[in-house]
Amino acid sequence: MIKVNAESIEKFLKEDEINKIRESLDKAVITLESKEGEGSDFLGWVDYPITYDKNELKRIKEAALTINRHSECLVVIGIGGSYLGAKAAISALSPYFTKEGVEIIFAGNSISSTYLSELRDYLFDKDFSVNVISKSGTTTEPALTYRVLFELLKKRYMKEEFKEHIFFTTDKEKGALREIGLKEGYEMFTVPSDMGGRYSVLSAVGLLPIASAGIDIDKMLEGARDAFKDLKEKQNPAYDYALVRNALYKKGYKIEIMESYEPKLSFISEWWKQLFGESEGKDHKGIFPASCTFTTDLHSMGQYIQEGERHLFETRLHIEEVKADLDIPFDKDNLDGLNYLAGKSVDYVNKTAEEATAKAHIDGGVPEIKISIPKVDAYNLGYLFYFFEKACALSGYTLDVNPFNQPGVEAYKKNMFVLLKKPGYEE
Ligand code: PA5
Repeated sequence: MIKVNAESIEKFLKEDEINKIRESLDKAVITLESKEGEGSDFLGWVDYPITYDKNELKRIKEAALTINRHSECLVVIGIGGSYLGAKAAISALSPYFTKEGVEIIFAGNSISSTYLSELRDYLFDKDFSVNVISKSGTTTEPALTYRVLFELLKKRYMKEEFKEHIFFTTDKEKGALREIGLKEGYEMFTVPSDMGGRYSVLSAVGLLPIASAGIDIDKMLEGARDAFKDLKEKQNPAYDYALVRNALYKKGYKIEIMESYEPKLSFISEWWKQLFGESEGKDHKGIFPASCTFTTDLHSMGQYIQEGERHLFETRLHIEEVKADLDIPFDKDNLDGLNYLAGKSVDYVNKTAEEATAKAHIDGGVPEIKISIPKVDAYNLGYLFYFFEKACALSGYTLDVNPFNQPGVEAYKKNMFVLLKKPGYEE
């Protein structure tokens, strides 16, 4: 189970400041449970760890096996909520250095011509498949990428074989991708209509790429299921996290930095940034979600955090049991002066850095929330994803915004379509 510890905030917040937020949060709990709040048509993720389509899960596993049988690479084409969850899970759970299994490549999450040209060259002589993920089916970045790779697939494979290399994940009922997939007879998976992209990692959106990377998606769903049950309790970690971060925000701490001392979790932070940023940042309100990987960023951002403007608080992802550890060797010459650490483990040094940094930052005026994860495995990641989704929905309602829409994302698109002269945008 994930634990939230926010002892340090006693130094920064008075009890009545927390209790005021508790009143709003208790209302937010009722709003979410009654499914009558704003955006209530996007609550499909709430019960999904229990209600997910078992037949689709079977098809996802079969497709992952097929991909592993016939492809060296799987190109996952999607942007925002249609890629960040899978990227986060695969980065967290795959070895740093490996040549085994299918190489998972993410594309369609930018409009970099350099990336796309180099990807096309890289794939030229490889067996590859694509998983195009887009709920709307019309998002420019993935659509453009698919067009380019579709040309390559057509050149690479004969007509019948070529179909076996295309997997679409899209809305169940509508959208351009759905129409193409039905017409061409491609294998299709579903983004539930009542689930927004950033809440979709535990659906086919995340699960097909994750399963293709060889990760146990049953375990991941088991973790999410346990979170679903545990976080129904009145006092639970998602409630505590939402409470503390909203109380800090109200007190003027406007920036939350998600931190981890394990670089493999840096994309968990990227996923979290989208989840909270897109859910809360509206009506000129919302905590600005930022992230750092330590100790790396202590050598770049550490100065600001320690002594810059005091509008920051930190949320530290703490891993209790690391995947691998090793001892620091003894050196008889000791020219680097490191023998005082000989025989100690590298994780001991990392955890000591963690403790020392937390204390220094708290002393320097930066409140800290510690989220402890027993270990980084499929089960605990499933739990963590659900934990953050629930905490985010509660936080959004506490802030009195709709946590499930993203009206602001359209502004840049409209301008871009006008400049690109997209039909219908001439005016
Ligand atoms: O969370 C969201 O809803 C967004 O980030 C979307 O996932 C993103 O804009 C991609 O949209 P689509 O899946 O329709 O291509």
